[in-house]
Amino acid sequence: MDLSNKIRQRRTFAVIAHPDGGKTTLTEKLLLFGGAIHVAGAVKSNKIKRGATSDFMEIERQRGISVATSVMGFEYRGLQINILDTPGHEDFAEDTYRTLTAVDSAIVVIDAAKGVESQTRKLMNVCRMRNTPVMAFVNKCDREGKDPFDLLNELEKELRVKTVPLTWPVGMGATFKGVYSLYRKKLSLFTSQDKQRVDDHVVEFSDIASPELEAHIDRFADKLREDVDLLQGVYPSFDVNGYLAGSTAPVFFGSALNNFGVQELLDAFCEIAPHPRPTRTDARTVDPFEEKLTGFVFKIHANMDPNHRDRLAFLKICSGTFERNKPYLHVRLGKQLRFSSPSAFMAEKKTVVEAAYPGDIVGLHDTGNFKIGDTLTEGEKMTFKGIPSFSPELFRYIDNADPLKAKQLAKGVDQLMDEGVAQLFTSALNGRKIVGTVGALQFEVIEYRLEHEYGAKCRWEPIALHKACWIESDSKDQLDDFMLRKHANMARDKHGRNVFLAESPYALQMAQDKFPDLKFYFTSEL
Ligand code: G4P
Repeated sequence: MDLSNKIRQRRTFAVIAHPDGGKTTLTEKLLLFGGAIHVAGAVKSNKIKRGATSDFMEIERQRGISVATSVMGFEYRGLQINILDTPGHEDFAEDTYRTLTAVDSAIVVIDAAKGVESQTRKLMNVCRMRNTPVMAFVNKCDREGKDPFDLLNELEKELRVKTVPLTWPVGMGATFKGVYSLYRKKLSLFTSQDKQRVDDHVVEFSDIASPELEAHIDRFADKLREDVDLLQGVYPSFDVNGYLAGSTAPVFFGSALNNFGVQELLDAFCEIAPHPRPTRTDARTVDPFEEKLTGFVFKIHANMDPNHRDRLAFLKICSGTFERNKPYLHVRLGKQLRFSSPSAFMAEKKTVVEAAYPGDIVGLHDTGNFKIGDTLTEGEKMTFKGIPSFSPELFRYIDNADPLKAKQLAKGVDQLMDEGVAQLFTSALNGRKIVGTVGALQFEVIEYRLEHEYGAKCRWEPIALHKACWIESDSKDQLDDFMLRKHANMARDKHGRNVFLAESPYALQMAQDKFPDLKFYFTSEL
C-alpha cells in the first residue's frame, strides 16, 4: 500500500475528561467495541488515588500503567486507530496538554450530572489553540443528570464551540431507555434488567412518527418526537467542515459503563474523524503526504528499571516514512541518530517496528538525547511549534540535601525537566533554583525520583509566589527598565528566557498597568 493510503487510514486521538468523568471507562469500551481487547477491565485506571497506599507507591504504579497504555493502537474497519492516553490526575495536566499536540482529534467526556468542569474547560482551551476537532460524549446518562438541552447550552457557552447533537437520550437516570441516532435514524435500546449488555436489536425508524415507536419505548415516544422536533428547529444540520475546523462539536449521549451510545460514537468517529493533518514548524507547514520523514517528541518516559538510565521518547510522525536503522537529523543537536529498536504500540503490546507512518507514535530508546519538542528530519533544519508550556502556579526553592551528591542532583533535575515533569527557573536575585509546577504532587514525584533514580537528595523551601509569566517587549528600554525595577522578582527559564515571578495577582496587575508595552505571557511555546 502506498504512503498516501496509509495516511488516509490513520486516526490518532485522545480521550479527555475532568477526573472521574469516565475517560478510562470510555477508552476501554472503545477498545472493546473496536475488537482490540476482549474483556473489560484490561485498561487500568491511571488515577492516583490519595490515601489508598503511600503516594510514592501510587506514583510508581501509575507510571507503570502509563507506559503500557501510552498509545493504544488497533485496527478497525480498515482504519489504524491510535488512542493516546493522558494522565488521570489533575496535577499532571501538563502531560495531557502536550499529548494533545500529537493528536489529530479528541473526544471530550462530560459527566451528565456535573456538566462542564474546570479541567474540561482547560483541556478544551488547548484544543481550541490548535483548532483540534472535538467530539463530546455526555456520559453517565444512566444516572440522574442535567436536562440534555441544558447540557447542550452549557457545552456551547462554557466550551465556546457550536454543538450539534448526533444522538439523543431517551429518558435519563433510572428511566434511561437508550439513545436515538439523529443521523442514522436508529433507536438503540437497553435491556432494562441487564444494563451491562447492549440489546442486540437496534430498531430502525425512517419516521419516528410511526405508531410502532410506542411499541418500543411506550410513554417516551411522544417526548422523543417533541425533542427531535425542537432539535431540528434549533440546531443546524451537522456540518462536517465545521467539525474539522474545530468550531463545531458533535455531541453524543450514553453510558460508557453500560456500553451505551459507544457504538454510535465509534461509528461516527470512523466516518468523520480526520486523518493526520498539516503541522506547523518554525520554518513552514509540513504536509503529512510529503515523502521525507519529519516528527517531534511530545513525551518522554523514564525507564522503570532503575539499573538502566535510558528513557523512552515518544515521537509523533508528521510526514514521510520512519524506518528502523535509517539515520535522521536531530535538529537541536545537529546530530545524526539511528534507532535499532523503535517500538510501536498495538493494544497493550509493544513491538519493534520496521516502519511507521504519519499519525503513528514510535517509542525511541533514549540515553539523554531528547527533550520535549525535539524534531527529527531527513536533513531539513526546522522545529515543530506549538507544544505548550503553562505558567506554573506552585513554587519551591530546590536545595541540595546531600553535599556529596551535587552532580547527581543537577543531572536528575536537568533530566526531569527535559521530561517535562516541572519547570526550572533561576532567580536573578540570588541565583537559586526554583521549581515551578501546576500541581503539588509533582514535588513528591521529583523528590522520590531524584532519590530512586539518581541517588540524590533534595530539600524544598516554599516561596509565596502567585504566577510565573514570560515577558517580552519591542522596546528594549522598557524591558531593561522593568528588569531593573523588578530585579528581585526576575528569573530565567531553562531556555534563558526572561520570566517575571509575580508575588500576587495585585502585583501582576500593577506590573501590567505600569508597563503597557510589555507583553506578559501565561503560556509559552517550545
Ligand atoms: P476517569 O478516567 O475520567 O477519571 O473516570 P473513570 O472511567 O475511572 O470513571 C470514574 C467513575 O465513574 C468510575 O467509578 C466509573 O465506574 C464510573 N462511570 C464511568 N462511566 C459511567 C457510566 O456511564 N455510568 C455510571 N453510573 N458510572 C460510570 P468509581 O466508583 O470511581 O470506580 P470503579 O470502582 O467503579 O472502577
